[in-house]
Amino acid sequence: MSLSIVILAAGKGSRMKSPKAKVLHEICGREMLYYSIKAAREISDDVIVVVAHQKEAVTAAMEKHFTGLTFVTQDADNFPGTGGAMMGVKPRYDDVLVLNGDMPLIKRSSIEKFLANPADIVMSVIPLDNPSGYGRVVIENNSVLRIVEEKDATDTEKAINTVNAGVYAFKHHVLQTYIPRLSNANAQGEYYLTDVIEMARNDALSIAPLYVEEVEFKGVNSKNDLAGAEMIMMDRLRRLWMDAGVIMQLPETIYIEEGVRFEGECIVENGARLCGNTLIAHSHIKAHSVIEESIIRDSDIGPMAHIRPSSVITGTHIGNFVEVKKSTLTEVKAGHLSYLGDAVIDSGTNIGAGTITCNYDGIKKYQTIIGKNVFIGSDTQLVAPVEIADNVMIAAGTTVTAGKYESGLLILSRTPIKKISGFFTRFFGKGKEC
Ligand code: UD1
Ligand code: CA
Repeated sequence: MSLSIVILAAGKGSRMKSPKAKVLHEICGREMLYYSIKAAREISDDVIVVVAHQKEAVTAAMEKHFTGLTFVTQDADNFPGTGGAMMGVKPRYDDVLVLNGDMPLIKRSSIEKFLANPADIVMSVIPLDNPSGYGRVVIENNSVLRIVEEKDATDTEKAINTVNAGVYAFKHHVLQTYIPRLSNANAQGEYYLTDVIEMARNDALSIAPLYVEEVEFKGVNSKNDLAGAEMIMMDRLRRLWMDAGVIMQLPETIYIEEGVRFEGECIVENGARLCGNTLIAHSHIKAHSVIEESIIRDSDIGPMAHIRPSSVITGTHIGNFVEVKKSTLTEVKAGHLSYLGDAVIDSGTNIGAGTITCNYDGIKKYQTIIGKNVFIGSDTQLVAPVEIADNVMIAAGTTVTAGKYESGLLILSRTPIKKISGFFTRFFGKGKEC
């Protein structure tokens, strides 16, 4: 489509009370700005992002997700405000849609509605019970007169509950005419993009208000808004995956991020936390397990297991209180209470309760490689780097020191037991009461 989309992302976002730029605050594991750019990219090949505050961080974060964006730096010291943000923008096409970068919930289908209207300016409006914080839209006889920011509004204007949602479709020539004429003579000393409306109206240009859904257009200005937007986004993600065939028990208790993918019929129990670029295929994730940036296929995990980044788990049973980090497990059973880090473990191997890979010597991390059909008794420590061949048995309580162990062995390290007769009575006396 021949449409340019400008996303304003240069502001500080002081209401967030954070050292981090507002648009970099995350919703479902991705920066909020990611979502509006994603929706914009679906319909435009000319997406322009205006940056200033923490521009290096904002640019770098978005370049991780997208290629081919145009970044424009606002001169925010001399020309602050949303109007200032538009001053260096050079759209490629005649139709220009402007979005605030703090609207992560906006969808492509809503953006498209702005383009169906031929007016010189189409602007988004929402009727709100509580309009505070937004610019108020002064409408008379169904026609928009101007937008007045809350800080500049009279008491009568503040009582208006039709607000500017912050999305506009302009013809390029309208911007070229009015942006250079903006002034900063207002309560905030800023150049307001919203002042274009009144100037255009005075020149008898056509301005069409477009009523939009609050849920998609709500600006995220505070940490309360951030949490609210995340709940809505997460609900969308959960519904999307349930529609695709995933079973979720008590879905509202499941935390799921944008990068998570499912294949086949998976079951996710209550309280699970699924993060990062994770793939879960034909698997069962039991209650209160945490999975980060990993691949899980044909496996069951948890309850209360922790799968940390870069793990690849296939055909495996992981039970409660098992932590796995950066490990590849293929057809393994690790039923209880273990730490498996920097390990490669092959099929048919059983990991006894309390098995620990000692992967770190305080300076470096080392690998543990375990072959096929190895039986590891409970409470075993594997001091890495260690390599165990196929068909090995390790007795319970063994500390397997670093090295290579060949196929067929029993490995055992145990302090011989001492039995001291009569000790209990000598120590506690005859009359010990329990
Ligand atoms: C803006 C509108 C207000 C509307 C509201 C909707 C103006 C003057 N006001 O107010 O009418 O009701 O959005 O959410 O436009 N930004 C820049 N450069 C700047 C300042 C802001 O790029 O110098 C960006 C911000 O990063 C943000 C967006 O513009 O993504 C909106 O800025 P924000 O400060 O949140 O504007 P509001 O006060 O909410
Ligand atoms: Ca805002």
